[in-house]
This record gives sequence, C-alpha cells and structure tokens, in this order.
Amino acid sequence: MSILFESARLKNMTLRNRFVRSATYDGMSDPTGQVTDRQIKLIAGLAEGGVGLIVTAITYVHPSGQVSSFMNSIAEDSCIPGLQKLARAAHQRGAKIAVQLYHGGREARFVKTRGQLPIGPSVIADDPFYRWNYREMTTREIEDVVQAFGRAARRAREAGFDAVQIHGAHGYLFSQFLSPFTNRREDAWGGSLENRLRLHREVYASVRDHAGPDYPVGIKLGVEDGFKGGLTFSEGMKAALMLAETGYDALEISGGVRGEKYEGTEYRTKINIPSREGYFRAWTGEIRKKTDTPVIAVGGLKSIAMMEEMIRGGEADFISLCRPLISEPGLIRSWEADPGKKPRCVYCNQCLEAVHRGIPLSCVAFSKGEQTVLKAPQRNVGANPEGTHEN
Ligand SMILES: Cc1cc2nc3c(=O)[nH]c(=O)nc-3n(C[C@H](O)[C@H](O)[C@H](O)COP(=O)(O)O)c2cc1C
Repeated sequence: MSILFESARLKNMTLRNRFVRSATYDGMSDPTGQVTDRQIKLIAGLAEGGVGLIVTAITYVHPSGQVSSFMNSIAEDSCIPGLQKLARAAHQRGAKIAVQLYHGGREARFVKTRGQLPIGPSVIADDPFYRWNYREMTTREIEDVVQAFGRAARRAREAGFDAVQIHGAHGYLFSQFLSPFTNRREDAWGGSLENRLRLHREVYASVRDHAGPDYPVGIKLGVEDGFKGGLTFSEGMKAALMLAETGYDALEISGGVRGEKYEGTEYRTKINIPSREGYFRAWTGEIRKKTDTPVIAVGGLKSIAMMEEMIRGGEADFISLCRPLISEPGLIRSWEADPGKKPRCVYCNQCLEAVHRGIPLSCVAFSKGEQTVLKAPQRNVGANPEGTHEN
C-alpha cells in the first residue's frame, strides 16, 4: 500500500492517511456566522470521501476580523452547538477535523455593518496592491485579538474539534504582521523578525492557556510574499523554524501577502505540466529538512507519484489539497482504488471567482446546476474572503 494511505500521527491525533483538506472558504454560513446544513453536508462528503484531516473554512475569532457575511464565527459561545454538528459529521465518517482560526486584519473590509475601519499593523501609504482605508491597531487591540484566539481555541475544543489551525498566510492579519512591507511598527510588535512574529507567539501561548497543553495547534504560514520588497523566503523560513521552536505542532507552508495576478498568490493556475505542480515544494522541503515538527505541503499537488516522493524523501509529512477536493470530494477514495486516476480539477479558479461574488462554493467548471447568489441582509453586504485581486 502507498505510504500516502498509511495512518500517521500528528501530536495526539491518529489520522487514517496522509491527506489533509486544506482550509476552504465556502460562503455557506448563515449571515450570523452559524453553521448551516449545507456545510454539514459538505464536511460529511469530504469525510465520506476519505480525507484524513479536514481543515474547515476560515472562521473568525473576533468581529474586527470578519471578512465576509457568509463565513463562520467562533467568536461567541453561541457558535459551539453548530460547530459541534460539523465536528460530528467528520467523526462519524472516520475523519479528524480542525477549525481554521482567522482574523482578516486590513482585509476585513467587506462587512460594512461594523461601521468601523478595518485594522492592521501599520498603514502603508505606498502600497501598490492596497487602496482602501484602514487604521493602525493599538497595543490594546492587538492584546484583545490575542485573547480572542485563545477563547476561540477553547470553544473549538468544547465543540469536539481535534485541533485548531491558525491562518498565518495569504495576506491576512498574521501575514500583515510578519511582512516587513506591511508591518512598519516601531514598538514591540514590529521591526526585527522576532517582533514581527510576536503576534504568532503570543497567540500560541494564549491558545495553550485556553485549550490545554495536549491540544494540537498548527499554523498555515506564508513564507514569502508574492512581490518584490515583501517577505523573503530566507526570513520566512527562519520564521517557520522559530514557530516550530515556539511549540506549534504542524506547519502548513504557503504564500504570504499576495502579489499581482494569480501567479503571485497561493492559488496558481495552469497546473498542466509536471513542472507547474507542487509549486511550494522547494520551500516545504527546505523547511522540513531543518525541523522535526510535522510539515504539511500544499499548492498544486495532483499526482500520487510526486506526493509519495515528497513523503518518502522527507520533504513533507502530510499532503494538503483544496481545489481538487472542491471538484471531487471523493478523490482520496478514488485514488486509493486507482492511484493512476487523474484529478478532474483544471485549476481554473472559477470556484474562487464565484465565492468572491457571493455564490456558495462549487466546482463551476463541471457543475451543471444553477448557481444562486446568496442574499445578504441589507445591513450586511459583501463577500471576498480569499482573494483580493481580480485576475
Ligand atoms: C475557493 C477557495 C477558498 C479558499 N479558502 C481558504 C481558506 O479559507 N483558508 C486558507 O488558508 N486557504 C484557503 N484557500 C487556499 C487553499 O487552501 C490552498 O492553499 C490553495 O488553493 C492551494 O491548494 P490547491 O492547489 O490544492 O488548491 C482557498 C482556495 C480556494 C480556491
């Protein structure tokens, strides 16, 4: 049997195989952030389809970090019963499940109901990729957000989730703090790499305080920004190793603040020749060779041969997939039966463009059904959670 289908441990979790569903925003929550039946069905389908560990969609821990009207909240205890149903749907079908804990930082600008400006580490006047208004966070606000992550992790545990993953990539709050381009602070939260990682380390400590020493806490980390002048891989790798040292139990390696076009983002397209596959493979392998903390590879992974080579060669411990599982939630079981099967996904990113427009997640390229735009209540407009640029 392929090593990909052997069970493997991640801290105190035993996963039935090496496959992770990478966090995927689905635009399917109700307007108050509660879990819907549609989401329970989605998770059940992925678990039924053989995924080892499902990471949920981005889930906001504090109202200031909410980026869409159709995303889940874990900011209140009242969210726990709905989240419990999601966890149960995975467990009943043999999968483990982690919540992705999220704060959008300056990107949280689409939910206009708050009537407040989004917040970020520093306001950058000369940012070619960002033209909206936001304001600099006060120390007090940073500390509140740190505590909110801790409380959210406690709720995740109470709801029966096996783990949490901090969203530390893709230009959201943690990327904004880590990047020397978006973080120009001169206090303890900016400047040196140590300071730019303070948020990541304080959040880890807060999660540990609230959820306990044995609870698995991972991070999806953006290790290089998609444009010149941003975070370099050399610093990003140091950051990953420092976070492993801090105690994070798993590192999923991805991109940081986005650059231009899809090519400067975490969801590249044109994965149609072998050299385009596994586009973060080199970063992932380099980091894995320098730490014993489990590393999760993501980004354009589509052939069993490459994934096996990565696991056997010590370049990664787990394989994470997003778009192929949007198109085929049962892909893992299909691969188990026929490792030569080619995934149907063509990486066209129409799924992404549709969720930006408020359409619930589906494989647009292959879906026959009609798409319905969710109606946001009038006070609550907007959806553009995973992607800033129209490409
Ligand atoms: C529709 C869509 C939604 C996404 N939502 C999230 C998310 O909520 N959190 C996250 O960390 N990444 C998110 N991503 C990025 C994916 O998790 C993944 O890192 C990226 O798509 C590369 O993996 P792939 O080539 O297997 O799709 C999303 C991507 C897509 C296409």
